[in-house]
This record gives sequence, C-alpha cells and structure tokens, in this order.
Amino acid sequence: MARRDPHSYTDDRQVEVHQFSWIVDVSFETRTLHATALLHFGPKADAPPLLDLDTRGLTIESVRLVATGGHVGLVHALDAADPILGRRLRVELPARAVSEGGTLEIVYRTSPDASALQWLAPEQTAGGAHPFVFTQCQAIHARSLLPIQDSPAARVTYRAELSVPAALRGLMAARDDGRDAEVVGGQRVERWSMPQAIPPYLIAFAVGDLASAELGPRSRVWAEPKTLPRAAHEFAQVDDMLTCAESLFGPYDWERFDLLVMPPSFPYGGMENPRLTFLTPTLLAGDRSLVAVVAHELAHSWTGNLVSGASAEHFWLNEGMTVWAERRIVEALFGVEAAALDAALGRRELDDAVADFADRPQLTHLRTSLDGIDPDEVFSVVPYEKGFLFARALEEAAGRAAFDRFVATYVRELSFRSITTDDFVALVRSELPGALERVGAAAYLEAPGVPPSAPASRSERYDAIVALGAALPDEAVARQLGPTEWQLYLGRLPRPFAQAGELERRFALFERGNHEIRAAFIELALDSAVPEAMARAEALVAEVGRMKYLKPIYGAMARHDGARTKAVFERLRGRYHPVAAQVIRKLIAAT
Ligand code: BES
Ligand code: ZN
Repeated sequence: MARRDPHSYTDDRQVEVHQFSWIVDVSFETRTLHATALLHFGPKADAPPLLDLDTRGLTIESVRLVATGGHVGLVHALDAADPILGRRLRVELPARAVSEGGTLEIVYRTSPDASALQWLAPEQTAGGAHPFVFTQCQAIHARSLLPIQDSPAARVTYRAELSVPAALRGLMAARDDGRDAEVVGGQRVERWSMPQAIPPYLIAFAVGDLASAELGPRSRVWAEPKTLPRAAHEFAQVDDMLTCAESLFGPYDWERFDLLVMPPSFPYGGMENPRLTFLTPTLLAGDRSLVAVVAHELAHSWTGNLVSGASAEHFWLNEGMTVWAERRIVEALFGVEAAALDAALGRRELDDAVADFADRPQLTHLRTSLDGIDPDEVFSVVPYEKGFLFARALEEAAGRAAFDRFVATYVRELSFRSITTDDFVALVRSELPGALERVGAAAYLEAPGVPPSAPASRSERYDAIVALGAALPDEAVARQLGPTEWQLYLGRLPRPFAQAGELERRFALFERGNHEIRAAFIELALDSAVPEAMARAEALVAEVGRMKYLKPIYGAMARHDGARTKAVFERLRGRYHPVAAQVIRKLIAAT
C-alpha cells in the first residue's frame, strides 16, 4: 500500500525522513516563522526517486539537496490545496540520494494563519504587556509549521534552533540545550533537541513572557509571571503523580515532566507534548480539583507517546487507553470512589456523544474510517470513553493483575512504535487468550454505540446523586458535593428545568471559580431560559477558548437565540484559536 494514513501524503514506498534540524526565526511583527528545515532521510532500496511531504500554507523559497561540493537545487511541485490535507510538496530526488540517503534543505515561511499557531496580542495574555505564540499540532497541523511526512506512523527525532525576541522566552517540548547570551537584532537563539522518535503531532513550542517554579526533581511549571503562583499551588503534587504513574506503568522515559500553563485561548484541556505538557488555565480552580487532566496528560507519556496510534483512525488507542491509565492514577491517589465518579461522568458524556452521532454511527466505532473527514470536525469523547470501557472490560475479563501485565508488555514491546487497532488486538489475543471473545471485542471496535455488556462503575456517591433526581439538594448535602458530583447532578436534570433560577439563588453556580461547574450550569440555565443566562454565557465564551466549553455553550446559545449568538461569535472569533474558530463557525451554522 502506498498511502496508509488518510490524512497524510506520506507514501510508504518512498524514503523516510527520520530526523530533522530546524532553524526558525519567530517574528511577531509578521506573525510568521521564517525557517530552514534540514530533512535527513535514510537509504531505501527500490524506492522511487520522489519524496512527498505534507504542507499547509507554506511559502517554499528553495528546495536543495545538501552535498559536499555545494547544494543542488531540486525540481519540486506544490499541488493544489486539499481542504483537509493541505498541499502535497513533491520533491524529485536523484537516484543516488535514494540509494544512499541524504539531506534535503527547504527554506520557507509559514502563513500568518497557520493552523498550528495562535499568535496572541499582549491584551490576550494574563500580563497584558507582551505577545505570545504557541503551537498545537495534533491532529494534522504540524504541516503548517514545516514540510514533513505528517503522519504519526512517520516518527522523527529533531534538533531545533529558535530565534525569539530577547525579552521573551521560548520553550519547546524537547530537551533544553541552552540559549545564547548574545542578542542579535533584538533576537536570541535557543537550542533544543528531541532525541526520542516521536510522531510529528508532538512537535511543540511556545514563546512568551514565561517564568517557572520548581515542583519536584523532575518537574517545574511554566506560566506567565502573573499566573505562576496559582499554577505552582494547583500542581504542587505533580511529583507524587509521576511516582505513582511509574509504579503503575513502568519507568518514565522522558527525563522531565514539565508543565506549561497556557493563555486562556488554548483550545484543549491539556496536550501531552513530550517533556512539556500544555495545560489550559481553566484548571486553576484553586483547590486542585481538576488535576485529573494532568494525570491524563502524564499517562500519555506511556499510552500515546511511547505507543501511538498509526493514524487518526486509531485515535482510541491514544485516548481510550490513556483515560483508562488516568483513572488508575486517580484511583491510586484519590481513591476508588473518585475514579468511579469520573467514570460515571464519562459514561453520561459518552451516551450524549453517541446520540449526537445518530446520523453518522460509523464515527462511534472505535476503529473509524476517516477518509475525507477532518479529524478536528469529528473530535468527540467517543474514542475516550468507549475506549476506556473496552479497556475496563478487558481488565475485568482477564483480572486486574493479568491486565496490568498485559499493559506492561504492550508498553515495553511497542515503545516508539505507531500501531493499528489490529496490532493491539493481536497482542491481546496472544497475551490474554479468550479475553477478546469474553468481552465481545467486535461490538466495541467495529459496531456503533455502547455494547449493553459494557462495564458500569459502582459508586455510592453516584447512587446518592441518582437518588437526588430533580430535587434541589439541601445546604448540607450541597456543601459535600465535589465538582464531578455537581456535573453529574446538573447533567441529569430535565431540560428545561423550572427550578434552575432557584438553584442559582441558593448555590451561586454562575459565580463558581470551577469552570466545569460554571459551564455545566450555564448550559442548563440557557436551556431553562434563566434571564441572566445569555449574559453569563457571553462572559464565559469571551474569557476562555477551551473547546470543551465553547462547543456546548455556543450550542445552547444558538438554540436560545441564533442571531445574537452569531453576533457574539463574530465579535469574539478573532480571539479564538484557528481550529476552535472553525469548529464553532460550523457548529453555529448547523443549528
Ligand atoms: N491529546 C489530547 C488533546 C487533543 C486531541 C488535541 C486531539 C488535538 C486533537 C489530550 O490528551 C486530551 O485528551 N485532552 C483532554 C483532557 C481530558 C480528557 C482529561 C482535553 O483537552 O479536555
Ligand atoms: Zn488525551
């Protein structure tokens, strides 16, 4: 087969780029990267004299083969843009380069609207004085930063030299190789390397006014100076988490586990960039109640970053296995009840997501077919929570000890590999004989919805919430409810809920510092026509860019008042991350 990944022009028959050196000038004035990528490829017998690379929005200045007697210009062509994949860059290679391997030098610029980058004006940051830029390459945006074989199956190591404004600080999800003392033209060069072979979606950097606080021997947290104290408090226990995860999944392979708290427009809760997890500032609730997201990103250090899905069609291998691992960490640190509550909430969200895909049930299989489908458009909790249930079912069928041994083998044998669902199934078959049959694996992998036999987590606290039903909790009960329980309670209430206004008067849910509770209540309040709800919703979507909140709240706003919602979005869209802006635009248009 030539192209295995429906979201990449990477062609298996061609040579493989296994390493690159990246020299990048970060310009806030032009909102571009002016860069040179040196792509090192290995020899390959019988490969055609061509190399197809993924690009999006890149302006190619030159393509040359690096040679001792002087670089040689190469014939190359940029195809017309595919709306999902971007533009294929086809380079013609001399036969000798194919049989011996070599290095391509590509000089290029990125576009100011590169899909992997968000450029923030100073007023979009916490400090308000300096600009900020960050990357988000998953799922298929690395190609808007550099020409590359942008498929998770094409792992790469790299070195990078970032030239950034001397007043700011660049950070890469890589090993820190130091920065120059010298400042040239107001810019300073920083050096980074990633010696472990990673999927290109894990290439990441950020540049801004950043400071750090030490959290433990292997961890520090980075944030804007104004945010740093809150961040250091929220994540103070990260070293315990790291130790706990190692006891569950084996040694931590990435030397450091640093955290970077992003500006509010960061579109995700967290992103597992190796050695430097990116986190939304909405986790800074003040009470450490949202650290399960950190456990999740940490767990990806094994499931996802060591063992990766070979394409977005196997995304559940990344996320389902990671939710399973995340809940094992939560269980070990915070107890069985906490993990069971998280699983109960996950199950509720899964049922809603399955219902949302009623007209496209194929997207609720774990193994999906995504040819012609943009992975950002169909992102949902299904691979997360249905994947979790599949892993739990296997754990229950095999017994915990046997399943833990399986996971250890999975991580050890498949480290630094990008695998398919079939590879996973083959390993389960050999390591846990009979387990696939006992759980009815096909109902998870190749059928829609949630299998009736899927495991349910037992939880006394959850039973108490179910017993509460649509009654308002009294003061004493309400004081005992944690954020997950509030979300479960609010999620189960009928819509419209006649007492939504009363609930707000008693418990001030619009004012909650915990974004999960506030967002869940705003959605309920909009659906229940609470007078203040629209203004509260507008305030929230103006403040944060995390898609987990933008999607349901814009959806509820649009159901409530379509015209006003469109106007709000038009006013705010310039603040959102390019991917978030596109997803919300389509969501509003569809309602
Ligand atoms: N890798 C994902 C984020 C992601 C997925 C970005 C697909 C782009 C495309 C990350 O690990 C994640 O799952 N984040 C969740 C955290 C949650 C499940 C604890 C999020 O952002 O909410
Ligand atoms: Zn994840």
